[in-house]
Amino acid sequence: MGISIRSRGRISALRAAAARRLRCETRQRPQRPMKPLTFKVINMTYNIALLRGDGIGPEIVDSAVRVLEAVGKKYGHTFNFTPYLIGGAAIDATGAPLPQETVDGCLASDSVLLGAVGGPKWDTLPGNLRPEKALLGIRAALGLFTNLRPAKLYPALAGDCPLRPDIVKDGFDIMIVRELTGGIYFGDRGYREGKYGQEAFDTECYSRFEIERIARVAFETARKRRGKVSSIDKANVLETSRLWRKTVHEIGERDYPNVALQDVLVDNAAMQLVKNPAQFDVIVTSNMFGDILSDEASQITGSIGMLPSASLNETTRGMYEPIHGSAPDIAGRGIANPIATILSAAMMLRYSFDLAAEADDIEAAVDKALNDGLRTADLMGASGRTPLGTTAMTDAVIERL
Ligand code: IPM
Ligand code: MG
Repeated sequence: MGISIRSRGRISALRAAAARRLRCETRQRPQRPMKPLTFKVINMTYNIALLRGDGIGPEIVDSAVRVLEAVGKKYGHTFNFTPYLIGGAAIDATGAPLPQETVDGCLASDSVLLGAVGGPKWDTLPGNLRPEKALLGIRAALGLFTNLRPAKLYPALAGDCPLRPDIVKDGFDIMIVRELTGGIYFGDRGYREGKYGQEAFDTECYSRFEIERIARVAFETARKRRGKVSSIDKANVLETSRLWRKTVHEIGERDYPNVALQDVLVDNAAMQLVKNPAQFDVIVTSNMFGDILSDEASQITGSIGMLPSASLNETTRGMYEPIHGSAPDIAGRGIANPIATILSAAMMLRYSFDLAAEADDIEAAVDKALNDGLRTADLMGASGRTPLGTTAMTDAVIERL
């Protein structure tokens, strides 16, 4: 099959993107030759696996799909969407939260867009059958060790921020780099008989390799931002944190001497986030601490409904999802805020497809909608405005592309 000049440009752009992403991995190892690229990129066609999931998941994923379609039309890209079951929806249909077909479909796709999983209906199932297990399973199956969770204060939403105006007068713009495939989420666990009878345990375990790998992502990210990494741990108590701290320092001092590195104990970090969020640029932390701190960071942006995320490995195939959950209390009512998922789709364009202009366009459209005073119900603050529903907010973003 012939390759057009345009496609060659596209291929080298994709190669460059993959190489940039890989840099942290390959610095210390001999450069592996890039895998030959298949012809699927030639026609600027991208195959996206859709994991709508549960609760508000289907509504917000469909919003992001509409935005991607509008962007595709504007820039001449074709996005093919293939839905797969995950979470409670998959349990209901197949008995398992993560069917093999879903894993295979994601592995065969160029990237994955996920809504959210879980809900009260499946809350009483044993741990290994819960919808959340599917989320951990797909993260592991795709090797998504990096989770980028940007938390910034939109000037238009300053009124929704629960912090005092003097604390956020200069705004904040934080990139949380959360380790996503290790730590207590994936360690040994179980039940046993203990001193007081039955007990349960979960284990935190981190290898030097895993810490180094995520630390490099954080340093590389900080280099392109304001040049500061805050590494969050609990080194005053936990052995894993002591290895974390030591390893992050070794990498930082040896390979990133121009990036400022600061250690913050996790309890202090939780406090600093509400005391002076502007002090943070890049935060790097473990799976569990990142889970907790990213919810806290999202709330000070005004609403958890605003925060997108990108889960990445060393290839260009990533998984993109809002950081909020399935919000079963508002599911099906058409009032969920689609912005976090729309911004997650923008991250997909940026990180997986190297389509920076298209991603900028979506982010600017969201900015404009907010600056024009448009709000979903979660962002009303004390404004007294009439909230837009999911569809109307999506329309508003599309109109502003
Ligand atoms: C998140 C979620 C998940 C996590 C849950 C649903 C398993 O809270 O993505 O932050 O803890 O990673
Ligand atoms: Mg979470």
